[in-house]
Amino acid sequence: MAETAKELNGWQIIVKDKRGNIISDDRRRSRNRRETERVYLQRESDALMFGRGDSVIMKDAATKSYSVYLIHEIRLNTLNNIVEIWAFSYLRWFELKPLLYYARFEPQLVAEGHPDDYYKDKFINEIDRGELYITAELSEIWLKDFLGVAHMLGEEQWADQTVEKVTDRDFFVRYMCEPTGENFVPFDMQKERRLMSDSEPKEYEERLKRLSVPRPAGHRKSPHRPYKGSRAAYVEDVKIDTESDNTSAQESNDEENEAPYRARKSNTRRRAEISDHDTSSELSSLSSDAYDDARETAELDQREEQTKSDTDEKERSTSNASSSEEAEIISAYEISDNEDKKIYLGEHESSSPSATESEVEESSIDDEEVPLAKINNKRAGKSETSKRKSRKTESKLINGSRSSTASGSLARKFTKRNVVRAKKKYTPFSKRFSSVDDIPDLTELAEFNQSTNDIDVAALENKLRAPKTHEVVETIFSKIKKQLYSSHDKEEIVKSGNFQDFLPARESEFASIYLSIYSAIESGSATTVYIAGTPGVGKTLTVKEVVKELQRSSDQKELPVFQFVEINGLKMVKPTDSYEALWNKIMGERLTWGAAMESLEFYFNKVPRNKKRPVVVLLDELDALVNKTQDIMYNFFNWTTYENAKLIVIAVANTMDLPERQLGNKVSSRIGFTRIMFTGYTFEELKQIIEFRLKGLNNSFFYEDTKTGSAYMINPDEETNEAELPSHIKKVQLRMTDDAIEIASRKVASVSGDARRALKVCKRAAELAEQHYMNKHGYSYQGKAVSQDDLEDEEDANDEDGVQTVHISHIMKALNETINTHSTKFISRLSFTGKLFLYALLKLMQKSGLQEQQLGDIVDEIRLLIEMNAKNKFVEEISRVLFHRGSEVTPEQLRIISWDFIINQLVDAGILIKQSMKNENISCVKLNISSEDVKKALEQDESLKGL
Ligand SMILES: Nc1ncnc2c1ncn2[C@@H]1O[C@H](COP(=O)(O)OP(=O)(O)O)[C@@H](O)[C@H]1O
Ligand SMILES: [Mg+2]
Repeated sequence: MAETAKELNGWQIIVKDKRGNIISDDRRRSRNRRETERVYLQRESDALMFGRGDSVIMKDAATKSYSVYLIHEIRLNTLNNIVEIWAFSYLRWFELKPLLYYARFEPQLVAEGHPDDYYKDKFINEIDRGELYITAELSEIWLKDFLGVAHMLGEEQWADQTVEKVTDRDFFVRYMCEPTGENFVPFDMQKERRLMSDSEPKEYEERLKRLSVPRPAGHRKSPHRPYKGSRAAYVEDVKIDTESDNTSAQESNDEENEAPYRARKSNTRRRAEISDHDTSSELSSLSSDAYDDARETAELDQREEQTKSDTDEKERSTSNASSSEEAEIISAYEISDNEDKKIYLGEHESSSPSATESEVEESSIDDEEVPLAKINNKRAGKSETSKRKSRKTESKLINGSRSSTASGSLARKFTKRNVVRAKKKYTPFSKRFSSVDDIPDLTELAEFNQSTNDIDVAALENKLRAPKTHEVVETIFSKIKKQLYSSHDKEEIVKSGNFQDFLPARESEFASIYLSIYSAIESGSATTVYIAGTPGVGKTLTVKEVVKELQRSSDQKELPVFQFVEINGLKMVKPTDSYEALWNKIMGERLTWGAAMESLEFYFNKVPRNKKRPVVVLLDELDALVNKTQDIMYNFFNWTTYENAKLIVIAVANTMDLPERQLGNKVSSRIGFTRIMFTGYTFEELKQIIEFRLKGLNNSFFYEDTKTGSAYMINPDEETNEAELPSHIKKVQLRMTDDAIEIASRKVASVSGDARRALKVCKRAAELAEQHYMNKHGYSYQGKAVSQDDLEDEEDANDEDGVQTVHISHIMKALNETINTHSTKFISRLSFTGKLFLYALLKLMQKSGLQEQQLGDIVDEIRLLIEMNAKNKFVEEISRVLFHRGSEVTPEQLRIISWDFIINQLVDAGILIKQSMKNENISCVKLNISSEDVKKALEQDESLKGL
């Protein structure tokens, strides 16, 4: 992972399409998002490249060695990181447990009951250190740990003495196991890589998990068959498997089908074999998912056995190899995607000497009943060389039954079904039912039970994902910066139970939103809550807390289960995407926006209340979603007026009267909202928020390594004996002074009451303090060098010993910096008329003390300015342009129309907000950024000097 662009330094992201052509950034954006892309990371220095399916060697601080990972997914531009790399971990030889290892591979040896050391020594002596064991444990890896790309050799290559191997670079894999080093399952690297590149990351992840999670033994339906073999028998099995694997890998283009099955099959064998040593206690903790899987496999086993006995006679006369091939072909059918198809089997096989496996598979594509004889005719003309292949088809095929767990990657094969699926994309939900009564109970659908699903998956993932600690060098300031301004903060906040503790200054807003939504969910009715307030006043945060609280209630069965959908206007490419997003969330299917809109209309209007769950939609940044033609806002609000809707819309916008302006008074009063206004925070509230964020950090103690400046926080309960510390370790206290917090709160409150901004200022101040501190002590700091300033040195002198402080001076500096540089720049580049307009607006605001000003008044003010400053050369210039030859200024000539262009320009740049009225004169404008910022920008301006 690379959290910042800096970490990506020296690496390049390369995106290729299916055919391996590189996709440029522009093209990427215009492409369909669903289309498969392959992402690679390439080191600039040597063009070394890796991507999905490659294995990489990473530094591992925990083992003081390296670990090897199989790259699973490289995600670009996710929320927090520029690049996120997810990978499956391999176990290296020393991570295995000798006893478990031998229990699996040499059970007799374990039965002999030697002392533990015996196994250990034996293990160390004979284990092949180049062999890796893949696990389904997914972890995130960091580019900074990257050491190299591992060369994964095939087993034969590995065994081949003539091939030279490089230690710590060349490896091979034969088995998969659990992260604990148990339950080995054969694993065919080559094939898995191919499978991996053919399936979606999620699909493949599921597959690996399925492979590695053992099945509960108690769920086998088939009678327990004593396992005759010892290890020798097993090895033979494996051999056969691999052998036929290799052939099928060459001959069949569709051997994926058999893979899940066969792997599980071997799993079964393994279980039977070592069940004596295996307490299977871990089985009870399996998720239901795994259980279903297990049951299914048990069924497969049973069928396999039936088939086996059916064909026993035949089998005896054929070679061993062919019998295992037969098992393969059965499995291919078992798992193929034919829900209710019957394949007629029997005598015809022998009459089809030219059948190829792939053709048989093709036949299974059809959803109708397909007598195989037909297929035989089809292929009669084709020539066939391999006798072996023909033998394969002699096997007895049985009725297929589709195993749902085996869908995923396999489903794609069956084009016909895909066409049906693709068609669906355009068919609205409403068109699929002839009458309302036909609609099934949608609450029964899997997609409806998302939350429960999520929990199961999460449990499984937790089981597989061991916590990985990644050591980052932290300074004493790192935590403070993180805590003050990060996107993860909310989770932290929620951990402290009482909401007064985690949502300072928003208790009453929280309560009223909570109550409206709670009662709507409880009664299954529909409602709209409209929330307005300037940026950074905690709107989004409060709503999310409300929803979390509600979800908690519904988890405890206090409230009915509801669905929550968040739609953020700023994150939607097109406003209409919100229809697609909402429908996708409700039903788990992707429709075009038109179809989605129609489906939603139908869903909220027609589907009976008792057949669906309540839906809570958060329409955040509504201002950005509003558009004239498509009436997004109208639709969302209007749906809540349907009697059956069960829809709760929480709309969040910057201005109070957006609905009226957009929908007109009549419509908005018909819909009727609960309106909640968020005002800017007062300075006390901001102080509270900052202090709250710093809770547990301010005045905390750190151990600092004076050589490097890296530090770690001391647990307050920890007993420390400073006398025992090594000389280069120092105990340091971190402090942000009350004065500093106070001044930050006051300054920000006076401008906008924007908590986001207040936190940003504090964070920046901490950064400045850190930079200064690092510089002073000569620690290497990766940021750019800062200029020394005397102010801070003065303050430093006042510092108590061993206390590191964020001072007022840091805050002041940060305040100066964080004025909206973008807007300031924009203003400085405006034409003189534009600046004049803003200048007049500011003057008026000062005079009247009101934020909103009517256009007419502003124009009057401008006229006044022009008259009073007739001698100013810039004023002269515009008078000439506006009034021709500098004639007398008349109000008519300075019509508001002339300012349209400038006003629009300012509105587009986000500096102004304009409310249009029929009569332009009384249309209002107000600043969308703090007046402080505007003032600063104008003060520096040459052309306005002297006005
Ligand atoms: N009452 C509060 N307590 C703690 N943090 C707050 C509070 N209000 C706002 N914040 C923080 O300020 C930032 C902006 O809040 P947000 O809800 O996104 O504002 P809005 O949606 O109104 O623009 C967030 O980082 C949020 O965590
Ligand atoms: Mg917001």
